[in-house]
Amino acid sequence: MTAWAPRRGPRGVRHFLEIDDLDREELEAVLTLAAESALPQVLEGRGVALLFEHPSLRTRHATEVAVSELGGHPVSAVGAEVGLGVREPAADVARVLAGYHAVIGARVRRHGTLVEMAAALDGAGQPVPVVNLLSDAGHPAQVLADLLVLRRHLGELAGRRLTYVGDANNVCRSLVLAGALTGLQVTVAAPAGFGLSEELVERAGQLGAAPVCLDDPHEAAAGADALYTDVWTSMGQEAENARRRQAFAGFTLDGSVLAAAAPGAIVLHCLPAHRGEEISEDVLEGTASVVFEQAALRRAAMVGLLAWLGGVEPR
Ligand code: CP
Ligand code: NVA
Repeated sequence: MTAWAPRRGPRGVRHFLEIDDLDREELEAVLTLAAESALPQVLEGRGVALLFEHPSLRTRHATEVAVSELGGHPVSAVGAEVGLGVREPAADVARVLAGYHAVIGARVRRHGTLVEMAAALDGAGQPVPVVNLLSDAGHPAQVLADLLVLRRHLGELAGRRLTYVGDANNVCRSLVLAGALTGLQVTVAAPAGFGLSEELVERAGQLGAAPVCLDDPHEAAAGADALYTDVWTSMGQEAENARRRQAFAGFTLDGSVLAAAAPGAIVLHCLPAHRGEEISEDVLEGTASVVFEQAALRRAAMVGLLAWLGGVEPR
């Protein structure tokens, strides 16, 4: 058995708050581990805390199963039970949980909560990684699975083209950064006011390549090898739902957008999906769609990530 040995960098234990917390080689190692079978039981006898300020189906189940697969014991807490910053400060929650668990994963309303938790652990010298299970800024755990499904269908990603249609939200941001790390050329089609921030475009540029930003889904989809969309209203934005439905009219990933893509293009969606809004029923259920395969790969992606954070090297 290989014992849990938290991976460290120059600034201490490695956290996973965004996909570019990994460099190219490290991302490759995580994806390689995700594809391996019979990994060491690196979490044997260890707990993993999973906190959810928003609901979750895929992330919670995939992560709980991944923890078990590595021999560990997941403990999930949801909603008011979590009380981050309400019942007690996030920094206190992190330092308490680090006394019981090898890893703390959290889905948070505010990305800053993850940063506070990681800083509190670093400050206390507690070598426990914090893992982003979705924040308002990013969803890097999702994007690991996205890369797995993209590779399975497209092979080497460098030079391939992915077009994201819709809100440049948490998922889109992580995807753009992942594109910059892997050489996947990402184009984002969003209505005015809902596109990527300049800061994120620059960050991607510094990592490898800036995305192309457009406001016409058909133009953006032309020749793409993969199309991706996500909800127009993310968790925490429910009050903006009516305004967003108006703003995103014309941005549905439907048959006409798919027809503009390259022959054989695949369609991704992180799910949950709103049929008739960001994606049409026929595209979601059609032959180009790989969304349920993508969802299934969330488990392997979490296994790879947790094993890597615990010091396992690919074979
Ligand atoms: N894609 C995703 O993260 O799904 P959940 O919100 O159900 O976890
Ligand atoms: N952008 C969506 C992703 C859900 C998995 C949200 O944040 O609600």
